[in-house]
Amino acid sequence: MLARYLSRRRLLEEGMAGLVLALAGPPPCSRAQAAGSPGFAALTHSTEDRLLVPAGYAYSVVVRWGDPVIPGAPGLDPRTQTPRKQALQFGYNCDCVGFLPLPRGARSSARGLLVVNHEYTNPGLMFPRWDGRIERKTREMVEIELAAHGVSVVEAQREASGAWRYVRRSPYNRRLTGETRMAISGPAAGHPWLKSSYDSAGTLVRGTLNNCSGGTTPWGTVLTCEENFHFYFGGTVEGVTDQSIRAVHRRYGVQDLYGWARHHTRFDMSREPHEPLRFGWVVEVDPYDPSSVPVKRTALGRFKHEAATVVLARRGHVVVYSGDDEPFEYLYKFVSAGRYDPANRAGNLRLLDAGTLYVARFRDDGTGEWLPLRFGQGPLIPANGFASQAEVLINARRAADLLGATKMDRPEDVAVHPQTGKVYAVMTNNIARGADQVDRANPRPDNRFGHIIELSEEAGEHTATRFRWGIFIACGNPNNPHHRAYYQGHKDVSWLATPDNVAFDAAGRLWITTDGQPAAIKANDGVYVVETEGPGRGLARMFLSGPVGCEVCGPAFTPDNRTFFVAIQHPGEAPYEESGRGKASTFANPISRFPDYRADMPPRPSVVAIYRQDGGKVGS
Ligand code: FEO
Ligand code: CA
Ligand code: CA
Ligand code: CA
Repeated sequence: MLARYLSRRRLLEEGMAGLVLALAGPPPCSRAQAAGSPGFAALTHSTEDRLLVPAGYAYSVVVRWGDPVIPGAPGLDPRTQTPRKQALQFGYNCDCVGFLPLPRGARSSARGLLVVNHEYTNPGLMFPRWDGRIERKTREMVEIELAAHGVSVVEAQREASGAWRYVRRSPYNRRLTGETRMAISGPAAGHPWLKSSYDSAGTLVRGTLNNCSGGTTPWGTVLTCEENFHFYFGGTVEGVTDQSIRAVHRRYGVQDLYGWARHHTRFDMSREPHEPLRFGWVVEVDPYDPSSVPVKRTALGRFKHEAATVVLARRGHVVVYSGDDEPFEYLYKFVSAGRYDPANRAGNLRLLDAGTLYVARFRDDGTGEWLPLRFGQGPLIPANGFASQAEVLINARRAADLLGATKMDRPEDVAVHPQTGKVYAVMTNNIARGADQVDRANPRPDNRFGHIIELSEEAGEHTATRFRWGIFIACGNPNNPHHRAYYQGHKDVSWLATPDNVAFDAAGRLWITTDGQPAAIKANDGVYVVETEGPGRGLARMFLSGPVGCEVCGPAFTPDNRTFFVAIQHPGEAPYEESGRGKASTFANPISRFPDYRADMPPRPSVVAIYRQDGGKVGS
């Protein structure tokens, strides 16, 4: 058991603790105005505790942590919070935002469902009385945290002004939490390793945890990704008696960051050694059917999933791109065996249960291949510890190791260009990469700025097993030679660091949200727009600056491109508070109180809608 609550960010970005976060004073990086760019005047880097958008734009806060989701839920009073209230309210730390028009199948841009996942909790900003030690967490605190995880579905509507509000009494409104019953399907369902005392069949799970990024499907469901699931389990990996399972837990770094096992034995590996294997999956949610059971789709593999970006291949196969977000992990894609049929939704809801999972190998000559994770093929055989396809999927990381996949700089989100079909894969950073570990796809040692790879599948076919690739942008300041930044030759750009989520607008511009700029460049995280084709290719312009302490996530457009949704995750979170060097942020004295800015309210993770005051398309 850890003696006290350690900074999650410090563990994720090992070694970053030495960087001091400067929160006061003028922004040190102000060379961000891009000349001659149409559409909007680019912002400059900011350390201000405000959400900034360009002139002519406005934003509205659509839904915040603690807002009532289920009819009858109370509003947020953090001083009298209970697990029961939280399970009826909007969860914490919103990450992925999916906009699904209402009614289903319509292209409405004025009414739809916002499907939002909740990555993790920050008890130091949620609870008024807590000294930071996980052994002092009460059962009630843990159960509030469990209820603040998962997914929220809320109906939302555009008003005449362009602002959005959510509908309090919609029958679609729904909460999934760390306790909601979910199914397990696909090749690993029913495998002995997935059985627990709660579920002797290996086909049911309580809840989904650490959901980060995701995607929407052509049949109107949402894929939500279980990312850093490894932080939730107490006991020790060394105490797990089955040595095969112990090896899997080690490969995934299972440990206790949150202290939940003290109050819930299912998170205690000494009692439930299989429970960590029931997380790390992509979960499919049908928001149009509030009674539907969410399903963990094991065919997509088990890792720290970031992104589940869905594209239809020419002959109707469904392709899902996904990253494993950790230094030196891999980029994957899944190709369905069956084909999408717009007239058969029930059939489409089974498409993600059968197919082939591939992992990427990038060659230094600009080519690459997708290597299948197929039991019995190549090294994926009993002699290497795999007894079945289920075990290949549960231990996908080791399968990818054996196949010789390329170790990447923390693969985050993926987006597919709506016209060219090119695939853009984000590598957020990797400060652990040494000078002797670089390759052309991960070309910088101590990569603190991140980069985006552009990948073209052979013959433009997303089911292809070969591709060509290049570095699209290498983040950092292109005018500082030490950064080795690259924006297709442009120098007069809004430079950025630590790209995380990406989305395309209808015009083929790539919208990038960042997570980690305060550590990399001492400016708040934000949103940048980059042209991908034509003379402006690679030209980045800053569109939004978030409040202090947040990362910006989500990005999603309405079909008409007149509304741009983002999630403001963990406003007010101090990145390095445990190091004693950064500024502390506490419930009583947070470094931001976004979005309410009320003296009696802590910061609240929120989904915001950004729109042009003249009603035009965002970014045009
Ligand atoms: Fe939760 Fe990879 O960001
Ligand atoms: Ca992310
Ligand atoms: Ca992402
Ligand atoms: Ca993130």
